[in-house]
Amino acid sequence: MTKTRIYRVDELDKPSAQTDIKKTLQQGKNVVFPTETVYGIGANALSKEGIENIYKIKGRPSDNPLIMHLANADDLDKYVYVNQPYIKKLIHAFWPGPLTMVFEKKTSVPDYFTGGLKTVGVRIPGSAIARKIIEIADVPICAPSANISGRPSSTLFKHVIEDFNQKADILIDGGKSEVGLESTVLDVTKPVPVILRPGMITYDMIKTITGSVHISSDTLDDDIPKSPGMKYKHYAPKGQLIIVEGDIDKVIEYINKHTVAHQKSGYKTGVITTSEYKDQFTSSYIYNIGWSTNESEIASNIFAALRDMDEKDIEFIYTLSFRNGQYSDAIMNRLIKAANKHIINV
Ligand code: TXA
Ligand code: MG
Repeated sequence: MTKTRIYRVDELDKPSAQTDIKKTLQQGKNVVFPTETVYGIGANALSKEGIENIYKIKGRPSDNPLIMHLANADDLDKYVYVNQPYIKKLIHAFWPGPLTMVFEKKTSVPDYFTGGLKTVGVRIPGSAIARKIIEIADVPICAPSANISGRPSSTLFKHVIEDFNQKADILIDGGKSEVGLESTVLDVTKPVPVILRPGMITYDMIKTITGSVHISSDTLDDDIPKSPGMKYKHYAPKGQLIIVEGDIDKVIEYINKHTVAHQKSGYKTGVITTSEYKDQFTSSYIYNIGWSTNESEIASNIFAALRDMDEKDIEFIYTLSFRNGQYSDAIMNRLIKAANKHIINV
């Protein structure tokens, strides 16, 4: 068991906290910290021990490569080849922010970091707190999402406590993650960039900058693991998640019929709904993720909703689908994985 230290964001200016964070990372141990997307479990990206610790604590397969987090773009050339002309424009448009770019790596990036791949994902987080941690550490930081492997990512500090208290050395409380979904992962090794994981930097936003962009066929299909993180069961709550889509009246009718039936058989049911429909469901438990017109709010609440269902021991979780709007690719990618592709069309 590890003796975990917890720091609030306002304590990060204290020299004692900074020394603790720096030493912990230098000694190959882990610091869980907030980013604008989701919480990350950080280690010194150049420390084999630190990385092995992450795999151990997360229970994550070690062939799944990590993202390198930098405080600014000055050091980029140290680690990767920036060899497509559009990359500088993407950096200018979206960094710092929720965009990870996969580059050809230089030999300064150890193979154990990339799971043996010749490429490495890099991002400069939009969160000033995250950048501050990287600056304090004075080394690049790898940070997979801070969740036990397979569980929904952490977007609230209480999720971090659930998963990592007495496992990681330091936890930093940054409140709620603003974006709530992990960064867009974009392969920039080719003349036309390829989206490997959809996120809040969308296809349209990238296309505006680069002129053209492809979407990898495996963002949902787990058979051809271009982005190896995609091949594992992901984000799943303990209960069965079922996405119901179609005409909203029929969706509500379907969900009500099925939740009543489950409840009669003794199961706990939950419904993830938007504000405008929250009073129309008969399930004993409802989670309202916000108005459907406020897509960024919905995105930021998805993981918290799934975790909340676990906390309540809900066995059947029904959710509306979110196919319209600019963030629908990112939102539906996470929901469909969490549902293990269980979608009902009514
Ligand atoms: O928003 C985020 O990206 C968060 C925060 C903490 O920064 N981090 C995160 O890391 O989501 P992680 O490790 O949970 O997800 C990294 C994703 C995985 O799907 C992984 O397979 C992919 O990026 N990835 C990393 N390096 C890659 C590479 N060289 N080639 C292809 N995919 C890569
Ligand atoms: Mg993850």
